[in-house]
Amino acid sequence: MSDLAILRTISQLRATITAWRQDGQSVALVPTMGALHDAHMALMREARTRADRVVATIFVNPTQFAADEDLDTYPRREATDIAKLQEDGIDLLFAPDADEIYPPGFATTVTVAGVSEGLCGDYRPGHFSGVATVVTKLLLQALPDVALFGEKDYQQLQVIRGLARDLDIPVSIVGVPTVREADGLAMSSRNLHMSSHERTIAPQMYQTLTTVAERIHNGDDVETACAAGREALTAAGFAPVEYLELRDAQSLAPGDITDPCRILAAAWLGDTRLIDNIPLI
Ligand code: PAJ
Repeated sequence: MSDLAILRTISQLRATITAWRQDGQSVALVPTMGALHDAHMALMREARTRADRVVATIFVNPTQFAADEDLDTYPRREATDIAKLQEDGIDLLFAPDADEIYPPGFATTVTVAGVSEGLCGDYRPGHFSGVATVVTKLLLQALPDVALFGEKDYQQLQVIRGLARDLDIPVSIVGVPTVREADGLAMSSRNLHMSSHERTIAPQMYQTLTTVAERIHNGDDVETACAAGREALTAAGFAPVEYLELRDAQSLAPGDITDPCRILAAAWLGDTRLIDNIPLI
């Protein structure tokens, strides 16, 4: 157990971090939207190995949800989250209200062209600008040495790498490998919304990605293997299957398998939208 400081304002956050810095301590930042699960805690533990102080943020960012998305029903469990952060010895939780982040008159949006387009960008218009704007703000508010993000949200990770690079934010962005359930399903707060039947189907997304990767390894044509993967998801009960594609691991442009690539997919199971991706090694 540690003394977890819980701060709600940017000025309190800055004062605390400034004092740590004057003391020569390094700082790691782990932004989240709360409802913390084991994958979030894996990011926290990785952060602990990389800095003297670990700052977690919990902010359900309204600008990254479209009007028809699940902002209102997104799980909010602050008391449980605080207990988990205390148990893991996190130093500081920054949990601002929406007005602290977006005060009246707020008028700036950060958009990272290229990597925000295609894949989830096609199906969630404005989502990555909302993510990029809030992450830019959190990075500038905390000015950490390192900030950690999960590879599960691979396109988001590349958007964040892009904004840190283009805006000269002096932070090292670290990607943490996807944390999975025993059956391969990538952990996500949204997994809780699935029925028990949907939950038995869900691991087939990871299994399908793995099969597509094997087929490409064994010399199958990329588009043939990806089309077979999309068909396998449909046959398993995913509808709609938004995409299953091979992309360059850096630019997310359509991939050439001589460079590092990822296979990424998004599909719905009932009311739950699942995403996953794996490297093509
Ligand atoms: P959230 O969905 O709460 O995720 C917080 C962090 O945990 C993100 O970096 C995400 O990629 C990572 N994460 C979630 N599930 C993971 C898994 N199974 N394995 C590895 N990492 C996982 O992503 C967001 O919040 C928001 O968009 C945010 C970046 C906080 C901006 O609002």
